[in-house]
Amino acid sequence: MQDTKDLVSQVKKIVNATAGNRDEKLYRICKLLADEVPVFDWVGFYLVDPEADRELVLGPYVGEPTDHTRIPFGKGICGQAAETNETFVVQDVTEEDNYLACSVDVKAEIVVPVKRDGEFIAELDIDSHTKNSLTPEHQSALEKIGAVVAEIM
Ligand code: SME
Repeated sequence: MQDTKDLVSQVKKIVNATAGNRDEKLYRICKLLADEVPVFDWVGFYLVDPEADRELVLGPYVGEPTDHTRIPFGKGICGQAAETNETFVVQDVTEEDNYLACSVDVKAEIVVPVKRDGEFIAELDIDSHTKNSLTPEHQSALEKIGAVVAEIM
């Protein structure tokens, strides 16, 4: 696996690039993570919909299309992370009752909040087809990436 420090610095480069709008940059970040980390099989952003009442809307992503394009706060792993504003790591999705399945292949999931001045504004959602594959190093790098991404949200 690529050094996670290197991933954070590559995300900084994408964020600070002059070319590309916000969604193009978010897509490039998804692609970087999906390409470089073998156990990351679906990588996407959900954003708080300012027009809705406590609801997430799917933003740029890399991986299989999902039915879950809108997720209310509190529902699934994504909606629970939106409510707590904290990283949610699930090493085995079969052990979660409040879980929205995207595909039978998904075995583990991590959701990292993106915050502006402490306020929850979006999240980075990653699915893995491998159980118990998410490490503390992944979590730490993704939380740094979440902080970097907040600059363009
Ligand atoms: N599994 C998520 C739904 C989103 S998909 O993983 C893309 C959840 O339980 O919130």
